[in-house]
Amino acid sequence: MAEFIIKGGKKLKGEIEVHGAKNAALKALASSLLFSGPITVKNLPWIEDVFRMKELLEELGVKVSKAGERGLKLDAKKLSGAGFRKEIAKSLRASVVLTGPLLAREKKVIFPHPGGDVIGKRPIDIFLEGFRAFGAKIRTSRDNYEASAEKLKGADFTFKMISVSATETLMMAAVLAKGRTILRNAALEPEIESLANFLNKNGARIRGAGTPTVEIAGQNSRLLRGGGTFEIIPDRIDAGSFLILGAALGARIKIKKCNPLHLAALIFLLESAGVKIKSGPDWLLVSRPRKLTSLDAKTREYPGFATDLQAPFTVLMTQARGQAMIFETVFEGRLNYIEELNRMGAKITPCDPHRILVHGPTPLRGRDIEAPDIRAGLAFIIAALVAKGESRIKNIYQIDRGYERIEERLQKLGADIERV
Ligand code: EPU
Repeated sequence: MAEFIIKGGKKLKGEIEVHGAKNAALKALASSLLFSGPITVKNLPWIEDVFRMKELLEELGVKVSKAGERGLKLDAKKLSGAGFRKEIAKSLRASVVLTGPLLAREKKVIFPHPGGDVIGKRPIDIFLEGFRAFGAKIRTSRDNYEASAEKLKGADFTFKMISVSATETLMMAAVLAKGRTILRNAALEPEIESLANFLNKNGARIRGAGTPTVEIAGQNSRLLRGGGTFEIIPDRIDAGSFLILGAALGARIKIKKCNPLHLAALIFLLESAGVKIKSGPDWLLVSRPRKLTSLDAKTREYPGFATDLQAPFTVLMTQARGQAMIFETVFEGRLNYIEELNRMGAKITPCDPHRILVHGPTPLRGRDIEAPDIRAGLAFIIAALVAKGESRIKNIYQIDRGYERIEERLQKLGADIERV
Protein backbone atom coordinates (compact mmCIF):
# COMPACT_ATOMS: atom_id res chain seq x y z
CA MET A 1 0.00 0.00 0.00
CA ALA A 2 1.36 3.39 -0.99
CA GLU A 3 2.04 6.01 1.67
CA PHE A 4 3.14 9.62 1.75
CA ILE A 5 6.35 10.51 3.52
CA ILE A 6 6.43 14.17 4.39
CA LYS A 7 9.17 16.24 5.95
CA GLY A 8 7.61 19.37 7.36
CA GLY A 9 8.64 22.88 8.26
CA LYS A 10 9.35 24.30 4.81
CA LYS A 11 7.79 27.48 3.46
CA LEU A 12 5.98 26.91 0.18
CA LYS A 13 6.09 29.16 -2.83
CA GLY A 14 4.97 29.14 -6.45
CA GLU A 15 1.92 28.41 -8.55
CA ILE A 16 -0.62 25.63 -8.36
CA GLU A 17 -3.48 24.88 -10.75
CA VAL A 18 -6.92 23.84 -9.65
CA HIS A 19 -8.53 20.86 -11.40
CA GLY A 20 -12.15 20.27 -12.39
CA ALA A 21 -14.52 19.77 -9.44
CA LYS A 22 -14.87 16.20 -8.22
CA ASN A 23 -18.45 16.71 -7.11
CA ALA A 24 -19.43 18.25 -10.45
CA ALA A 25 -17.57 15.60 -12.46
CA LEU A 26 -19.31 12.66 -10.79
CA LYS A 27 -22.75 14.10 -11.54
CA ALA A 28 -21.77 15.11 -15.08
CA LEU A 29 -20.78 11.52 -15.82
CA ALA A 30 -24.02 10.23 -14.27
CA SER A 31 -26.05 12.63 -16.42
CA SER A 32 -24.97 10.67 -19.53
CA LEU A 33 -27.84 8.29 -18.65
CA LEU A 34 -30.35 10.97 -19.64
CA PHE A 35 -29.13 11.01 -23.25
CA SER A 36 -29.88 8.90 -26.31
CA GLY A 37 -26.54 9.85 -27.89
CA PRO A 38 -23.01 10.53 -26.76
CA ILE A 39 -21.96 13.44 -24.57
CA THR A 40 -18.43 14.65 -23.86
CA VAL A 41 -17.26 15.67 -20.41
CA LYS A 42 -14.16 17.87 -20.31
CA ASN A 43 -11.77 19.16 -17.65
CA LEU A 44 -12.17 16.01 -15.58
CA PRO A 45 -9.93 15.44 -12.57
CA TRP A 46 -8.22 12.03 -12.88
CA ILE A 47 -9.07 10.86 -9.40
CA GLU A 48 -10.13 7.48 -8.03
CA ASP A 49 -13.80 8.45 -7.55
CA VAL A 50 -14.04 9.44 -11.22
CA PHE A 51 -12.52 6.08 -12.23
CA ARG A 52 -15.04 4.26 -10.02
CA MET A 53 -17.97 6.20 -11.53
CA LYS A 54 -16.71 5.33 -15.01
CA GLU A 55 -16.61 1.63 -14.05
CA LEU A 56 -20.15 1.79 -12.68
CA LEU A 57 -21.43 3.37 -15.89
CA GLU A 58 -19.62 0.82 -18.07
CA GLU A 59 -21.22 -1.96 -16.06
CA LEU A 60 -24.60 -0.41 -16.84
CA GLY A 61 -23.80 -0.53 -20.56
CA VAL A 62 -22.54 3.00 -21.18
CA LYS A 63 -19.76 3.11 -23.76
CA VAL A 64 -16.94 5.24 -22.43
CA SER A 65 -13.90 6.39 -24.40
CA LYS A 66 -11.14 8.94 -23.93
CA ALA A 67 -11.75 12.40 -25.46
CA GLY A 68 -8.60 14.49 -25.29
CA GLU A 69 -6.33 14.95 -22.33
CA ARG A 70 -8.98 15.47 -19.67
CA GLY A 71 -12.12 14.31 -21.38
CA LEU A 72 -14.39 11.30 -21.66
CA LYS A 73 -17.05 10.55 -24.24
CA LEU A 74 -20.01 8.66 -22.85
CA ASP A 75 -22.65 6.98 -24.95
CA ALA A 76 -25.66 5.63 -23.06
CA LYS A 77 -27.74 4.85 -26.15
CA LYS A 78 -28.19 1.24 -25.08
CA LEU A 79 -28.06 0.08 -21.51
CA SER A 80 -27.27 -3.51 -20.69
CA GLY A 81 -29.89 -3.87 -17.98
CA ALA A 82 -27.17 -4.96 -15.58
CA GLY A 83 -27.37 -3.80 -12.00
CA PHE A 84 -24.98 -1.79 -9.93
CA ARG A 85 -21.57 -3.23 -9.16
CA LYS A 86 -22.12 -3.55 -5.45
CA GLU A 87 -18.52 -3.30 -4.29
CA ILE A 88 -18.08 -0.04 -6.20
CA ALA A 89 -21.42 1.48 -5.26
CA LYS A 90 -20.56 0.77 -1.66
CA SER A 91 -17.31 2.68 -1.90
CA LEU A 92 -18.76 5.76 -3.53
CA ARG A 93 -21.53 7.96 -2.15
CA ALA A 94 -22.09 9.55 -5.55
CA SER A 95 -23.24 6.17 -6.93
CA VAL A 96 -26.65 7.08 -5.54
CA VAL A 97 -27.11 9.87 -8.12
CA LEU A 98 -27.34 7.19 -10.83
CA THR A 99 -30.58 5.96 -9.31
CA GLY A 100 -32.62 8.98 -10.43
CA PRO A 101 -31.90 8.81 -14.16
CA LEU A 102 -31.95 4.99 -14.10
CA LEU A 103 -35.33 4.78 -12.44
CA ALA A 104 -36.75 7.31 -14.89
CA ARG A 105 -35.29 5.49 -17.85
CA GLU A 106 -35.43 1.78 -16.96
CA LYS A 107 -38.60 1.85 -14.79
CA LYS A 108 -36.78 -0.03 -12.08
CA VAL A 109 -33.55 0.29 -10.19
CA ILE A 110 -32.02 -2.01 -7.59
CA PHE A 111 -29.14 -0.60 -5.61
CA PRO A 112 -27.24 -1.13 -2.37
CA HIS A 113 -26.78 1.51 0.31
CA PRO A 114 -24.13 3.85 -1.09
CA GLY A 115 -20.83 4.11 0.75
CA GLY A 116 -18.22 6.85 0.68
CA ASP A 117 -16.58 8.80 3.47
CA VAL A 118 -17.33 7.66 6.98
CA ILE A 119 -18.37 11.07 8.22
CA GLY A 120 -21.75 10.33 9.73
CA LYS A 121 -24.82 8.20 9.13
CA ARG A 122 -25.48 9.44 5.59
CA PRO A 123 -28.94 7.96 5.12
CA ILE A 124 -30.80 8.04 1.78
CA ASP A 125 -34.31 8.61 3.13
CA ILE A 126 -34.69 11.89 1.22
CA PHE A 127 -33.98 10.17 -2.11
CA LEU A 128 -36.58 7.51 -1.34
CA GLU A 129 -39.14 10.13 -0.26
CA GLY A 130 -38.54 11.95 -3.53
CA PHE A 131 -38.98 8.81 -5.63
CA ARG A 132 -42.23 8.05 -3.77
CA ALA A 133 -43.46 11.58 -4.49
CA PHE A 134 -42.81 10.85 -8.19
CA GLY A 135 -45.07 7.80 -7.87
CA ALA A 136 -42.44 5.08 -7.46
CA LYS A 137 -42.84 2.05 -5.22
CA ILE A 138 -39.94 1.34 -2.91
CA ARG A 139 -39.04 -2.03 -1.48
CA THR A 140 -36.15 -2.52 0.88
CA SER A 141 -34.42 -5.76 1.69
CA ARG A 142 -31.41 -6.46 3.85
CA ASP A 143 -28.94 -5.79 1.02
CA ASN A 144 -30.78 -3.62 -1.46
CA TYR A 145 -33.31 -0.96 -2.25
CA GLU A 146 -35.64 -1.48 -5.17
CA ALA A 147 -37.49 1.44 -6.70
CA SER A 148 -39.96 0.92 -9.55
CA ALA A 149 -42.45 2.99 -11.50
CA GLU A 150 -44.07 2.46 -14.90
CA LYS A 151 -43.69 6.19 -15.42
CA LEU A 152 -42.37 8.86 -13.08
CA LYS A 153 -44.82 11.70 -12.59
CA GLY A 154 -43.60 15.21 -11.84
CA ALA A 155 -44.33 16.35 -8.30
CA ASP A 156 -44.19 19.29 -5.93
CA PHE A 157 -41.58 18.07 -3.46
CA THR A 158 -40.03 19.76 -0.44
CA PHE A 159 -36.68 18.55 0.89
CA LYS A 160 -36.99 18.20 4.66
CA MET A 161 -33.22 18.84 4.83
CA ILE A 162 -30.94 20.45 2.31
CA SER A 163 -29.11 17.72 0.39
CA VAL A 164 -26.73 18.23 -2.50
CA SER A 165 -26.90 14.77 -4.07
CA ALA A 166 -30.64 14.38 -3.51
CA THR A 167 -31.24 17.70 -5.28
CA GLU A 168 -29.16 16.52 -8.25
CA THR A 169 -30.72 13.05 -8.32
CA LEU A 170 -34.32 14.25 -8.23
CA MET A 171 -33.57 17.03 -10.70
CA MET A 172 -32.25 14.46 -13.18
CA ALA A 173 -35.17 12.09 -12.58
CA ALA A 174 -37.59 14.99 -13.12
CA VAL A 175 -36.04 15.76 -16.52
CA LEU A 176 -37.44 12.48 -17.87
CA ALA A 177 -40.64 12.44 -15.77
CA LYS A 178 -44.11 13.31 -17.04
CA GLY A 179 -45.26 16.84 -16.21
CA ARG A 180 -43.91 19.59 -14.05
CA THR A 181 -41.76 19.16 -10.94
CA ILE A 182 -41.06 21.76 -8.30
CA LEU A 183 -38.23 21.01 -5.87
CA ARG A 184 -38.34 23.22 -2.77
CA ASN A 185 -35.59 23.82 -0.19
CA ALA A 186 -33.11 22.62 -2.80
CA ALA A 187 -29.33 22.83 -2.29
CA LEU A 188 -27.57 25.84 -3.83
CA GLU A 189 -24.11 24.48 -4.66
CA PRO A 190 -22.58 25.82 -7.90
CA GLU A 191 -22.11 22.23 -9.09
CA ILE A 192 -25.92 21.91 -9.23
CA GLU A 193 -26.30 25.03 -11.34
CA SER A 194 -23.59 23.85 -13.72
CA LEU A 195 -25.33 20.48 -14.14
CA ALA A 196 -28.62 22.23 -14.91
CA ASN A 197 -26.95 24.60 -17.38
CA PHE A 198 -25.49 21.67 -19.29
CA LEU A 199 -28.78 19.78 -19.36
CA ASN A 200 -30.65 22.93 -20.47
CA LYS A 201 -28.21 23.49 -23.33
CA ASN A 202 -29.07 19.99 -24.48
CA GLY A 203 -32.84 20.13 -24.40
CA ALA A 204 -33.87 19.96 -20.73
CA ARG A 205 -36.10 22.65 -19.23
CA ILE A 206 -34.88 23.44 -15.72
CA ARG A 207 -35.42 26.80 -14.06
CA GLY A 208 -33.98 28.10 -10.82
CA ALA A 209 -31.09 25.65 -10.23
CA GLY A 210 -28.76 27.33 -7.74
CA THR A 211 -31.77 28.80 -5.89
CA PRO A 212 -33.97 27.07 -3.27
CA THR A 213 -36.77 26.45 -5.78
CA VAL A 214 -36.04 24.45 -8.91
CA GLU A 215 -38.71 23.90 -11.55
CA ILE A 216 -38.39 21.20 -14.17
CA ALA A 217 -40.63 20.61 -17.16
CA GLY A 218 -40.43 16.85 -17.73
CA GLN A 219 -39.72 15.20 -21.08
CA ASN A 220 -42.25 12.40 -20.57
CA SER A 221 -39.62 9.63 -20.99
CA ARG A 222 -38.11 11.19 -24.12
CA LEU A 223 -34.32 11.03 -23.72
CA LEU A 224 -32.25 14.15 -24.34
CA ARG A 225 -30.36 14.21 -27.59
CA GLY A 226 -26.59 13.85 -27.21
CA GLY A 227 -23.83 15.84 -28.80
CA GLY A 228 -23.18 18.33 -26.03
CA THR A 229 -19.97 19.04 -24.13
CA PHE A 230 -19.90 19.48 -20.37
CA GLU A 231 -16.98 21.60 -19.18
CA ILE A 232 -16.41 20.86 -15.49
CA ILE A 233 -16.16 23.97 -13.28
CA PRO A 234 -13.07 24.48 -11.08
CA ASP A 235 -12.99 22.55 -7.82
CA ARG A 236 -13.71 25.03 -5.04
CA ILE A 237 -12.60 22.53 -2.40
CA ASP A 238 -9.28 21.92 -4.20
CA ALA A 239 -8.80 25.71 -4.36
CA GLY A 240 -9.93 26.25 -0.76
CA SER A 241 -7.55 23.56 0.51
CA PHE A 242 -4.63 25.32 -1.21
CA LEU A 243 -5.76 28.65 0.18
CA ILE A 244 -5.62 27.22 3.69
CA LEU A 245 -2.25 25.61 2.93
CA GLY A 246 -1.00 29.02 1.78
CA ALA A 247 -2.29 30.67 4.95
CA ALA A 248 -0.38 28.08 7.00
CA LEU A 249 2.88 27.91 5.08
CA GLY A 250 2.81 30.14 2.05
CA ALA A 251 5.45 32.58 0.95
CA ARG A 252 3.30 33.73 -1.99
CA ILE A 253 1.30 30.88 -3.42
CA LYS A 254 -0.70 31.66 -6.55
CA ILE A 255 -3.73 29.45 -7.06
CA LYS A 256 -4.70 29.45 -10.72
CA LYS A 257 -7.76 28.35 -12.71
CA CYS A 258 -10.14 28.76 -9.77
CA ASN A 259 -13.33 30.72 -9.18
CA PRO A 260 -12.82 32.98 -6.12
CA LEU A 261 -16.55 33.79 -6.05
CA HIS A 262 -17.23 30.19 -5.01
CA LEU A 263 -14.95 30.63 -2.00
CA ALA A 264 -16.35 33.85 -0.56
CA ALA A 265 -17.12 32.40 2.89
CA LEU A 266 -13.65 30.89 3.32
CA ILE A 267 -11.92 34.03 2.05
CA PHE A 268 -13.90 36.13 4.54
CA LEU A 269 -12.91 33.79 7.39
CA LEU A 270 -9.23 33.74 6.46
CA GLU A 271 -9.09 37.52 6.08
CA SER A 272 -10.73 37.91 9.48
CA ALA A 273 -7.96 35.68 10.90
CA GLY A 274 -5.36 38.06 9.47
CA VAL A 275 -4.53 36.36 6.16
CA LYS A 276 -3.88 38.68 3.21
CA ILE A 277 -5.46 37.41 0.03
CA LYS A 278 -5.36 38.99 -3.40
CA SER A 279 -7.65 37.79 -6.14
CA GLY A 280 -8.41 38.14 -9.83
CA PRO A 281 -11.20 36.65 -11.92
CA ASP A 282 -9.62 33.17 -11.87
CA TRP A 283 -6.73 33.31 -9.41
CA LEU A 284 -5.89 33.84 -5.76
CA LEU A 285 -2.63 34.86 -4.13
CA VAL A 286 -1.98 33.98 -0.50
CA SER A 287 0.87 34.08 2.03
CA ARG A 288 1.19 33.19 5.68
CA PRO A 289 0.58 36.34 7.73
CA ARG A 290 2.96 37.40 10.50
CA LYS A 291 0.11 37.16 12.98
CA LEU A 292 -2.63 34.57 12.64
CA THR A 293 -5.59 35.03 14.99
CA SER A 294 -7.98 32.26 16.06
CA LEU A 295 -11.48 32.47 14.77
CA ASP A 296 -14.68 30.50 15.32
CA ALA A 297 -16.14 28.81 12.25
CA LYS A 298 -19.40 27.07 11.54
CA THR A 299 -19.97 24.88 8.50
CA ARG A 300 -23.08 25.49 6.43
CA GLU A 301 -24.54 24.52 3.11
CA TYR A 302 -23.37 26.66 0.17
CA PRO A 303 -22.83 29.63 0.12
CA GLY A 304 -21.73 29.13 3.74
CA PHE A 305 -18.39 27.80 4.93
CA ALA A 306 -18.04 24.34 3.31
CA THR A 307 -17.94 21.25 5.52
CA ASP A 308 -15.33 19.84 3.12
CA LEU A 309 -12.93 22.58 4.26
CA GLN A 310 -13.57 22.15 7.96
CA ALA A 311 -10.70 19.73 8.74
CA PRO A 312 -8.04 21.74 6.84
CA PHE A 313 -9.29 24.90 8.59
CA THR A 314 -8.94 23.20 11.99
CA VAL A 315 -5.29 22.43 11.18
CA LEU A 316 -4.77 26.11 10.39
CA MET A 317 -6.34 27.10 13.71
CA THR A 318 -3.76 24.96 15.58
CA GLN A 319 -1.27 27.57 14.33
CA ALA A 320 -3.36 30.62 15.27
CA ARG A 321 -3.26 32.59 18.52
CA GLY A 322 -6.26 32.11 20.78
CA GLN A 323 -9.18 29.69 20.90
CA ALA A 324 -11.28 28.67 17.95
CA MET A 325 -14.63 26.93 18.25
CA ILE A 326 -15.24 24.81 15.16
CA PHE A 327 -18.89 23.86 14.73
CA GLU A 328 -19.68 21.13 12.18
CA THR A 329 -23.39 21.38 11.39
CA VAL A 330 -23.71 19.37 8.16
CA PHE A 331 -22.44 15.89 9.16
CA GLU A 332 -22.50 14.31 12.59
CA GLY A 333 -19.27 12.32 12.32
CA ARG A 334 -16.83 14.71 10.74
CA LEU A 335 -14.57 15.56 13.68
CA ASN A 336 -13.10 12.09 14.12
CA TYR A 337 -9.64 13.19 12.97
CA ILE A 338 -8.81 15.36 16.01
CA GLU A 339 -7.18 12.58 18.04
CA GLU A 340 -4.53 12.17 15.37
CA LEU A 341 -3.88 15.92 15.34
CA ASN A 342 -3.58 15.88 19.13
CA ARG A 343 -1.02 13.08 18.84
CA MET A 344 0.94 15.45 16.59
CA GLY A 345 0.92 18.08 19.34
CA ALA A 346 -2.32 19.98 18.71
CA LYS A 347 -4.52 20.95 21.66
CA ILE A 348 -8.05 20.27 20.52
CA THR A 349 -10.82 19.57 23.00
CA PRO A 350 -14.04 17.90 21.88
CA CYS A 351 -17.12 19.68 23.28
CA ASP A 352 -19.91 17.54 21.84
CA PRO A 353 -20.37 15.48 18.65
CA HIS A 354 -20.54 18.66 16.58
CA ARG A 355 -18.11 21.06 18.24
CA ILE A 356 -14.42 21.23 19.08
CA LEU A 357 -12.25 23.88 20.70
CA VAL A 358 -8.82 24.44 19.17
CA HIS A 359 -6.23 26.08 21.43
CA GLY A 360 -3.36 27.68 19.57
CA PRO A 361 -0.72 28.13 18.60
CA THR A 362 0.88 24.74 19.19
CA PRO A 363 3.92 23.36 17.39
CA LEU A 364 3.17 20.10 15.58
CA ARG A 365 5.46 17.05 15.44
CA GLY A 366 5.67 14.55 12.58
CA ARG A 367 3.90 11.21 13.24
CA ASP A 368 2.56 8.14 11.49
CA ILE A 369 -1.07 8.84 10.73
CA GLU A 370 -3.86 7.26 8.72
CA ALA A 371 -6.13 9.23 6.38
CA PRO A 372 -9.73 8.55 7.48
CA ASP A 373 -11.42 10.25 4.51
CA ILE A 374 -10.66 12.55 1.59
CA ARG A 375 -10.78 15.90 3.34
CA ALA A 376 -9.32 14.88 6.71
CA GLY A 377 -6.61 13.14 4.65
CA LEU A 378 -5.75 16.44 2.97
CA ALA A 379 -5.85 18.15 6.38
CA PHE A 380 -3.25 15.63 7.60
CA ILE A 381 -1.00 16.51 4.64
CA ILE A 382 -1.20 20.17 5.66
CA ALA A 383 -0.51 19.24 9.31
CA ALA A 384 2.50 17.13 8.26
CA LEU A 385 3.86 19.98 6.13
CA VAL A 386 3.52 22.34 9.10
CA ALA A 387 5.04 19.83 11.57
CA LYS A 388 8.67 19.48 12.58
CA GLY A 389 10.16 16.18 11.49
CA GLU A 390 8.88 13.34 9.37
CA SER A 391 5.32 12.06 9.02
CA ARG A 392 4.01 9.03 7.23
CA ILE A 393 0.45 9.15 5.97
CA LYS A 394 -1.20 5.81 5.36
CA ASN A 395 -4.42 4.82 3.63
CA ILE A 396 -3.77 7.44 0.94
CA TYR A 397 -6.30 5.84 -1.41
CA GLN A 398 -8.70 8.10 0.48
CA ILE A 399 -6.74 11.18 -0.61
CA ASP A 400 -6.41 9.90 -4.19
CA ARG A 401 -10.21 9.60 -4.29
CA GLY A 402 -10.47 13.38 -4.36
CA TYR A 403 -7.09 14.94 -5.19
CA GLU A 404 -5.18 14.15 -8.36
CA ARG A 405 -1.48 13.38 -7.79
CA ILE A 406 -1.39 15.76 -4.89
CA GLU A 407 2.27 15.03 -4.11
CA GLU A 408 3.47 16.20 -7.54
CA ARG A 409 1.49 19.40 -7.28
CA LEU A 410 2.83 20.14 -3.81
CA GLN A 411 6.40 19.29 -4.81
CA LYS A 412 6.18 22.11 -7.34
CA LEU A 413 5.59 24.48 -4.41
CA GLY A 414 8.73 23.17 -2.72
CA ALA A 415 7.07 20.68 -0.38
CA ASP A 416 9.08 17.66 0.74
CA ILE A 417 6.51 14.96 0.06
CA GLU A 418 7.02 11.59 -1.54
CA ARG A 419 4.77 8.68 -2.47
CA VAL A 420 6.40 5.39 -1.52
N1 EPU B 1 -29.02 13.49 4.50
C1 EPU B 1 -30.06 12.78 5.05
N2 EPU B 1 -30.80 11.99 4.22
C2 EPU B 1 -30.57 11.90 2.89
C3 EPU B 1 -29.51 12.65 2.33
C4 EPU B 1 -28.75 13.45 3.17
O1 EPU B 1 -30.28 12.83 6.26
O2 EPU B 1 -31.30 11.17 2.21
C5 EPU B 1 -28.19 14.33 5.38
C6 EPU B 1 -26.74 13.87 5.43
O3 EPU B 1 -26.56 12.78 6.31
C7 EPU B 1 -26.03 15.12 5.88
C8 EPU B 1 -26.85 16.22 5.21
O4 EPU B 1 -28.09 15.63 4.84
O5 EPU B 1 -26.07 15.24 7.26
C9 EPU B 1 -26.24 16.82 3.97
O6 EPU B 1 -25.81 15.82 3.10
P1 EPU B 1 -25.83 15.95 1.51
O7 EPU B 1 -26.82 14.99 0.99
O8 EPU B 1 -25.93 17.37 1.12
O9 EPU B 1 -24.37 15.43 1.16
P2 EPU B 1 -24.00 14.54 -0.08
O10 EPU B 1 -24.78 14.97 -1.26
O11 EPU B 1 -23.99 13.12 0.30
C10 EPU B 1 -22.15 16.09 -1.05
C11 EPU B 1 -20.69 15.93 -1.38
C12 EPU B 1 -19.90 15.89 -0.10
C13 EPU B 1 -20.14 17.18 0.68
C14 EPU B 1 -21.64 17.35 0.93
C15 EPU B 1 -22.00 18.65 1.61
C16 EPU B 1 -20.84 14.59 -3.39
C17 EPU B 1 -20.56 13.30 -4.05
N3 EPU B 1 -20.51 14.67 -2.10
O12 EPU B 1 -22.49 14.96 -0.28
O13 EPU B 1 -18.54 15.82 -0.49
O14 EPU B 1 -19.46 17.13 1.90
O15 EPU B 1 -22.35 17.30 -0.32
O16 EPU B 1 -21.55 19.72 0.87
O17 EPU B 1 -21.31 15.53 -4.01
C18 EPU B 1 -16.29 15.21 -0.36
O18 EPU B 1 -16.17 15.68 -1.50
O19 EPU B 1 -15.29 14.86 0.33
C19 EPU B 1 -17.63 15.07 0.21
C20 EPU B 1 -17.89 14.35 1.28
